[in-house]
Amino acid sequence: MDNIYLVGFMGSGKSTLGKKLSEIKNYEFIDTDKEIEKINSMTINQIFKNFDESFFRQEELSLLKTILKQKKTIISTGGGFVCFNNIMKTIKKNGISIYLKYSSKNLYKRLKENYQERPLINKIQENKREEFISELLQKREKFYLESNFVIDCLSLNEDDILRKINSLISTT
Ligand code: S3P
Repeated sequence: MDNIYLVGFMGSGKSTLGKKLSEIKNYEFIDTDKEIEKINSMTINQIFKNFDESFFRQEELSLLKTILKQKKTIISTGGGFVCFNNIMKTIKKNGISIYLKYSSKNLYKRLKENYQERPLINKIQENKREEFISELLQKREKFYLESNFVIDCLSLNEDDILRKINSLISTT
């Protein structure tokens, strides 16, 4: 069975949905951030602080090599995972990618209480955060939109999204 990659901006629910989906489908589960934290024995915040973003992107790339050897795995990717090192092109050859799409306004709301663990956002002043999210989404959406499927999540609850993913992957 092909691997399934959940793709999208920070705060789009990739980790929670990926875990649940893996339980429903009886697939293996990899959360790229959690895996990189484990490999380095550091939190994402510490990795960005002690090294830098380019180190983290190399860690994502090297983790991808391991993922490509796996089958029947759901992968919840970090928000920048598919935006560097041609990773989007590579994963499209290896599995099915699904973009969980939200507007930047909605992502800002979803991230409001949840930015502390996210080094790219927690360094931004509160009054600049919404604009930062909007600009970063604009830069990144071209990568996300290369996914095999796009789910417009705005008016859907978690169960709706899970059902939708399930029906999409059953047709492939
Ligand atoms: C990042 C998103 C984060 C994490 C890191 C960088 C990004 O993952 O990989 O903080 O570049 O968008 P989540 O999408 O799970 O927050």
